[in-house]
Order: sequence, then C-alpha cells, then structure tokens
Amino acid sequence: MKGIILAGGSGTRLYPITKGISKQLMPIYDKPMIYYPLSTLISAGIREILIITTPEDAAAFRRLLGDGSQFGIMLDYAVQPSPDGLAQAFIIGEEFIGRDSVALALGDNIFDGSQLTRILGETRDVDGGAIFAYEVSDPQRYGVVTFDADGTATSIEEKPAHPKSTFAVVGLYFYDGAVVDVAKRIAPSERGELEITAVNDAYLAAGKLKVHRLYRGDVWLDTGTIDSMSEASAYVEVMQKRTGTIIGSPEVAAYNQGFLSREDLLAQGRALLKSGYGRYLIDAAGE
Ligand code: G1P
Repeated sequence: MKGIILAGGSGTRLYPITKGISKQLMPIYDKPMIYYPLSTLISAGIREILIITTPEDAAAFRRLLGDGSQFGIMLDYAVQPSPDGLAQAFIIGEEFIGRDSVALALGDNIFDGSQLTRILGETRDVDGGAIFAYEVSDPQRYGVVTFDADGTATSIEEKPAHPKSTFAVVGLYFYDGAVVDVAKRIAPSERGELEITAVNDAYLAAGKLKVHRLYRGDVWLDTGTIDSMSEASAYVEVMQKRTGTIIGSPEVAAYNQGFLSREDLLAQGRALLKSGYGRYLIDAAGE
C-alpha cells in the first residue's frame, strides 16, 4: 500500500500567518504540522509516501523531509498547481500509485490513540474504500456520514448546512487501486472542487465503502483554524509532558514498525538533543 499526504491549499483561514509559510509547516507544539499525518501513515505500516504541496512551498518541504531515509521510508514529491480539491491527489499521484491500494492523509489532521493504531493495521488490505467517522459538536464543518441501526453507512454529504448526524468524516482515507479511475469520473462540486466526499459517495453507491467509527479514546484534531490549531498544540504539550512519550514523531512511528533500528533511533535522537525532541527519541529507544 502507498500513502499520499496532501499539504497544498492556500490556508486563507490562517491569514496573515500563512501568507509567507505553508500551513502544514507551522508548528503544532514542538514539531511541524506535517509530522503528524506522516506519523499516522507510517503507523499504518506504509513506507512509500508522496507529498503533494503547492509549487511555491515544494522546496521547503524537501528541505524539511528530504528523501525520507532518516525515517526509514521513501518520500516522493509532487505539486498541486491550484487548490482544486482533495480528490485531485489521486489524479496527480496516478503514476506513483500505479495499481496499488493507497491511503490519503490530509496534512492538517492529527490523530492519537492506541485503538487507532490497531484499526490502521487492519485497514491496510482494503477492498473498496475505508474511512473513519468521529462524533463532533460542529459537523457542518466536515463531511458528514449517517448510519443505519446496524452501523452501516447510509449517506455522506460534504459540509451540509443541516447535518443529518453528528459524525464527521476524518481526513484519512484508504482505497483500493480503483480510486484513480473513480477520481477521474467524479464531477467538480458547486465550489469547483473535486471533493473527496464525491469519491466516498461513489464507493458507497457501489456498496464498497466501510466506515469505521472512532470512539472517545481516540483523538482526532484538525488544525484548519487558528483556534483549532492552538488547541491541538495545547493537547500535544499536555499529553507529552504528562506521559513522557511523544505524539507525532515519524522516527518513533518508524521504529515501532521496524523501519528504523534501535541504533538509528538513538542516532537521530542524539542529533536532536538541543531542541528537546531528541530526548523523546532516546527515551523511546529505551535508554
Ligand atoms: C476536508 C473534507 C471533509 C473532511 C475534512 C476533514 O474538508 O472535504 O469532508 O471532513 O477535510 O478535516 P476541508 O479541510 O477541505 O475543509
């Protein structure tokens, strides 16, 4: 299975901050935002990842992440010339995906929780599509999914003014190799974007969409607004200080997957001791 992180977009809801820097390079507490979705994909056991950015920000992402070898993974890069929708990621990534199944992670979504890691492991061999729903107080900001009494998904709508449920679709999607063709067939929405919700709706109509419910013990945060971004930073700070373990570290996720050896992790940790990040890596290596 391959992975894609979509880190494009103009970030206008965070202006003026994101006038000069990509949103996904902004810090969430002690690390760049993109470290979180990168760690999520690595925790799903994915080793080949395509990073899609705006043309202007491409160089900065390469400087930060390089070829991925420091995380024991392989990174590729592509650009999205204008923000024409999340589903465009599959068209941009067509060659990279080939015939493989693929997971898409949005560059501004943060996940934490032990159940999630287990579900991610189980979701790898997906037949059709697999997405996740999380109960929220403001569903109108998201894709919204409804369920029948058996927990089977019955409808999915993008940012409805009058949501039919409180279940938001989170920014992490798993699909089989048919997704490139599905993305090519959908029509742009009223706001002119190739919506990921249209892709999910196509899988749902074909009876091939599995929607996993995430529960309270799993944490999903998005960082699309200044408030949600600062809340996400506070969450990471509190949890890390309280438990002494790090959230959103690609190195630690890679070590847990066996992509990095203990020696690799220790070496990365020693190189980053000055900032404090390295201490967490050394602790994760058990030293
Ligand atoms: C996107 C999707 C939406 C999903 C959300 C998760 O919204 O269109 O369906 O619920 O991500 O973060 P956007 O971030 O583009 O507003």
